[in-house]
Amino acid sequence: MNREILFPTPVYFKMVKDPKKMNKYLFPLIKAWSKKDKSVEKTNSGGGWHSPTNMNFKKEYKPLIDELFAMQEEIYKDYGMQPKPGLGNMWANINYPGSYNKQHLHPNSQWSGVYYVKVSKNSGRLFVEDPRPGASITLPRRVKGLPKALWHVVIYPAIEGQMIMFPSWLSHGVEINESKEKGEKGWRVSVSFNFIQIDK
Ligand SMILES: [Fe+2]
Repeated sequence: MNREILFPTPVYFKMVKDPKKMNKYLFPLIKAWSKKDKSVEKTNSGGGWHSPTNMNFKKEYKPLIDELFAMQEEIYKDYGMQPKPGLGNMWANINYPGSYNKQHLHPNSQWSGVYYVKVSKNSGRLFVEDPRPGASITLPRRVKGLPKALWHVVIYPAIEGQMIMFPSWLSHGVEINESKEKGEKGWRVSVSFNFIQIDK
């Protein structure tokens, strides 16, 4: 018997060059921003602070933006896209203990993703769901131990310094932050973004 896997759903992940240095630099900037600007209300928000979405226009975040673009270039090669990516918008998230993000997708963009600045134990993992509507109508009983490509939901642990990128139409969410750490030690800090496709 032969088998083909059609319509794959790619999820890419990659560490930035120097995670410790990057996060030591980013954390105080985002923390200070959260004291200055009010949280932006979003339908998927379950508490926490969501920055304005103009982070891509702020010069101080260039070190991270450069890393994101380098990863997008790799994805463009791997996924056969051309000519080049553009950063549509970008924002920072602070999920305090008790906050989460309901499942959602990102309209009007090609690739979305997250970068982890700070996580603590049980501060919430990213989950992605089978995006095919038909596949969710009937969920057959199946044996345990199937390969990941056949799962209905896949969970990714949050790793400081890691970038994750996936198609913007892929439904995803973030578990509740159940950290027992006190104060900012229990925060889960991440940066989200949407990449579009541009001509020049
Ligand atoms: Fe999202």
